[in-house]
Amino acid sequence: MTENATPSAVAAPRPSSRPRPARPTPRVAADLRDLQALARVAARYGVRPEDADDAAPGVASALARALATSRAAAHPGAPDGGPAVLDVQLGHRSVRAFLPGPLEPWVLPTVVAAAQSAPSSSNLQLWSVVAVTDRERLARVAALAGHQEHVRDAPLLLVWVADVARARQLGARDGVELEAAGYLETTVVAFLDAALAAQNAVVAAESLGLGTVYVGAVRNHPEDLAAELGLPPGAVAVVGLAVGHPDPDHAPRVKPRLPQDAVLHRETYDEGRVAHVADYAPRIDAFYRDERLDGSWSRRVVDRLRGGGSLKGRERLREALTALGLPSR
Ligand SMILES: Cc1cc2nc3c(=O)[nH]c(=O)nc-3n(C[C@H](O)[C@H](O)[C@H](O)COP(=O)(O)O)c2cc1C
Repeated sequence: MTENATPSAVAAPRPSSRPRPARPTPRVAADLRDLQALARVAARYGVRPEDADDAAPGVASALARALATSRAAAHPGAPDGGPAVLDVQLGHRSVRAFLPGPLEPWVLPTVVAAAQSAPSSSNLQLWSVVAVTDRERLARVAALAGHQEHVRDAPLLLVWVADVARARQLGARDGVELEAAGYLETTVVAFLDAALAAQNAVVAAESLGLGTVYVGAVRNHPEDLAAELGLPPGAVAVVGLAVGHPDPDHAPRVKPRLPQDAVLHRETYDEGRVAHVADYAPRIDAFYRDERLDGSWSRRVVDRLRGGGSLKGRERLREALTALGLPSR
């Protein structure tokens, strides 16, 4: 066997010895990505594309790079590497109209796998999710959640649950009563875990072309919902998530957010940043007018938080948590 013909020489040539084929990246494609990225950022902040870099410096460039990577790399043989995570996140909009019919069977396990991939405080994984597809149950849940049509009509409703019950079962198996499970800290951890899992599911679903909308109204009647879903003591619904294929006849637009100057504090909190909310008013108020919604954004914030009545039953959450076995001391 000659030196050049050894199996190892054939199987594993030194990487540097093989010329790398140049990746074709036509300039026009790069320009399109730049434009797409600028448009994405502009929509998120409700500004013109030429002002996108002022609204969120560097984000459009980061997105353009992410678009290039996701399309060109990672999946050999695939014509398209799938949407970039950043693109999915910046393009998020809640969807409240779905095509009828059940979802493909792989959707549920896929989004739950994404949810389970979220970080979890101390890896306690203090959450569960109840997947509801039964039309009669969906109608009953919708009635408990402010009679929202998109809950009733969704092919799938995921109810994210703060779940201390499973940990208590483990304690009981070992003959240990979990005293710390009764503290507010544990409830907060369980709510955080459930929320992080839910948001991972949102990004996963949207990356698959599905639409979602959260349903905070599942907390309007927590005890009744717990009974409907058969939740054990120590488990409470945090938020619902309706999932489905978006109805193209009711495609929502990206809703502008506050300017970064209003939300981003550097090193220490600066209360003066509230002044930047003024820049937001014309953008979001025009959006609401187009959607035939009354009132300015800041008025809506104030009205929503003015009195307990606007919480639609959620003002008694502490009492409900106690009744459901999460005393939250
Ligand atoms: C915790 C939470 C609860 C929500 N609850 C509801 C709800 O009960 N009904 C609804 O139609 N939208 C609900 N939403 C969706 C918000 O209204 C929506 O995210 C917000 O208006 C921003 O719009 P966008 O998601 O299209 O960007 C909820 C969102 C969150 C994060």
